[in-house]
This record gives sequence, structure tokens and C-alpha cells, in this order.
Amino acid sequence: MSKLGIGVLGVGAMGKRHAENIRRLVPQARLIAVADVAAEPTRRVAAELEIEHSFASLEEMLERKDIEAVVIATPDKFHSQDIQAAAAAGKQILCEKPLALNLADAHAALEAVAKAGVQLQMGFMRRYDPGYSSAMRRIEAGEIGEPVVFKSIGRDKDAPPISSYASRLNGMLFYNNTIHDFDLARWLMRDEVKEVQAYATVAIRPEVAEFGDIVAGVVNLKYGRGAIGNIESYVQAVYGYDVRTEIIGSKGSILVGSLQQTPVTFLTGEGGTQILASYFLDRFEDAYVAEVEDFVDSMLRDRAPRISGKEGLRALEIAVAAEQSYIQSKACTVGHAG
Ligand SMILES: NC(=O)c1ccc[n+]([C@@H]2O[C@H](COP(=O)([O-])OP(=O)(O)OC[C@H]3O[C@@H](n4cnc5c(N)ncnc54)[C@H](O)[C@@H]3O)[C@@H](O)[C@H]2O)c1
Repeated sequence: MSKLGIGVLGVGAMGKRHAENIRRLVPQARLIAVADVAAEPTRRVAAELEIEHSFASLEEMLERKDIEAVVIATPDKFHSQDIQAAAAAGKQILCEKPLALNLADAHAALEAVAKAGVQLQMGFMRRYDPGYSSAMRRIEAGEIGEPVVFKSIGRDKDAPPISSYASRLNGMLFYNNTIHDFDLARWLMRDEVKEVQAYATVAIRPEVAEFGDIVAGVVNLKYGRGAIGNIESYVQAVYGYDVRTEIIGSKGSILVGSLQQTPVTFLTGEGGTQILASYFLDRFEDAYVAEVEDFVDSMLRDRAPRISGKEGLRALEIAVAAEQSYIQSKACTVGHAG
């Protein structure tokens, strides 16, 4: 089987990791180029990974015939337009979350993908995490019976600088962070969220309100078959990067995630300490590799990706309803258009 030629768009924290993984850890893929509007990091990443080609725009990169697939890791605001451009050029696509920042852009992206007859995989890498994927296997095997309650926590360690809010390049907390939990909420419960009720706060950093953002949010969920759920997101836990989920069923529960990054506890006269996860790239290190491996495998076998663009749309619909619920101070129905 020949290798899949890939170009990575965006060489920030996420795009650089994807490029490194493709270059070093996915033998079925060949990293052909990286592209980014920022010249210096693009040159640096290309040199570090010993690849010949780097570009200042997606359009230039798309001209290469040996690039069959594009990994999109630009800021959230550009995902829809980048998907549309890559699809029009006939490239297969792995796009970071969220699919888009509004439903019109999301539909435009999915229509472009359908029209071009290419594949789109969404970057919901948590589904590839060993903990989350084994939870799913056990849920599918019926080990906890009928899932009744979904609970999830997503806390970043340090809040972004105010300049990153001011740039307005990324979606507010529900779109940029909670979107992972909205995806898990559907996937692990094997049901659709029909209604949400969100509370959010700008306490401790009121200036983020000016940019339409929040520092913490809780979203209650009501499912189609009668289950319920709750998701908490927080931008600055301070102590670490803390992602945990619980699925409570009629015959048992599953707890995914732990505060510990490494299974070691240091005990001294002053007490005990542990090494806590502090960064998404460490906590989900294996998942990012498995995600790209699976994308490459699906593309080489001409198989639909495991996490389609439609899954990206469903999670986005929950984020949109959550934002509406917060703004309108009432429960909101989740729209399932198309
Ligand atoms: N799946 C995950 O766990 C996860 C984690 C972090 C980030 N992300 C997502 O990945 C994306 C990138 O996040 P990041 O943390 O790497 O951000 P970042 O700010 O570190 O990097 C973004 C890069 O995109 C480049 N860029 C900006 N506009 C561009 C354009 N029009 N064309 C080409 N390049 C452009 C910037 O120069 C920068 O190098 C975001 O959508 C984010 O939500 C996903």
C-alpha cells in the first residue's frame, strides 16, 4: 500500500504536534509540507522535521499533487473556509475541532465536502484515548447497563492571555473547550442531547465578557431517551489540566481520567505529592497519534472516517444551544438540522 501524502496547515501548538506525529510515528503517511501565515515558525518546523516544502498559505500548499490529505490546525475561525478550500482542491481532510463557529459555516463546510466527494474527519481525539475508548467498548458490551447520567469536567491549567481573547480567532469556551465534552456526551451515551441549560460566569476575570467569553460554565443536558448529564468547564484550574468523565448506568459506572499524569506518589515528612497532568499535549499524547493513524488508515483503505463531519456538526449544535441558553437564561432545545 502506498503512503498517504499529507500537508499540515497551521504550525502552532496543535499543528506542530500533528506534523511531528505524521513525520515520525505514522509510517503509512508522508509529511510533504507545512503551511502557516507566520513565516518564521513555518520555516523552523520544516527544518526541524527535515521536510523540503513550506508555504505561506493553504492555497499554495493545495497546488501540490502529491498532497492527498490536509490536516487543518488553524484557529477555530478559519476551519470552515479551510475545509471548503481543501475540499475544492480534492484533498481528504482531518480538521481540528470545532467544525466551525456557527451553523451556517458548518453547513457550508459539509456541503463543500459532499460536493467534492472527499472525506472529512473531525479532531475529537479523546475518542482515541485508551481510557475513553475502553469505556466505550464496555458501554457497547452492556457492562454498565443503560447509561443514565453523564458527568464531565474539563479544566485547563492556565487561562489564555487577554490578547488571545482580543484576537477573536477562537470560539468562546463552549466552542473551543467544552466541544470535546459535548462530543463525548453524545458518543459515550449513544444518544442525542435534546435540551441544554447553561450557567456561566466571568467572575475572577470580568474583562473577558467584552469578548463574548466566560471563564467557567456548567451545562445541564437532557437526552432523547431520558438520560441526563452535566458538564463543567473552567479555564484556569491552576493545579493542572484536569479532564475526567463519569458514565453512570443501570448496572454500574465508569470513571475515566485521573488527576495524575504519572502513577507515582512522593511521600515525605511534609506530606505527599503527585505529578499532575498539566497540558493537553501530554495528557492526550497517545490519542493524537492514534487519531492520525486511524485517519491515514481510513484514507488509504478508502473507508469513511470514524468521526465524520456530521459528528462535528452535532457537537457544534450543542455548543450553539448552550451559548443561547446562557445568553437567554433559559433551557434551549438543541437543533438537529440535516
Ligand atoms: N484537539 C485538541 O485537543 C486541541 C488542542 C489545542 C488546540 N486545538 C485546536 O487546534 C487549532 C489550533 O490551535 P493551537 O493551539 O495550535 O493554536 P496556535 O495559536 O498555537 O496556532 C495556530 C497557528 O495557525 C496559524 N494561522 C493563523 N491564521 C492562519 C491562516 N489563515 N492560515 C494558516 N495559518 C494560520 C498561526 O500563525 C499559528 O501558527 C484550534 O482550532 C484549536 O481549537 C485542538
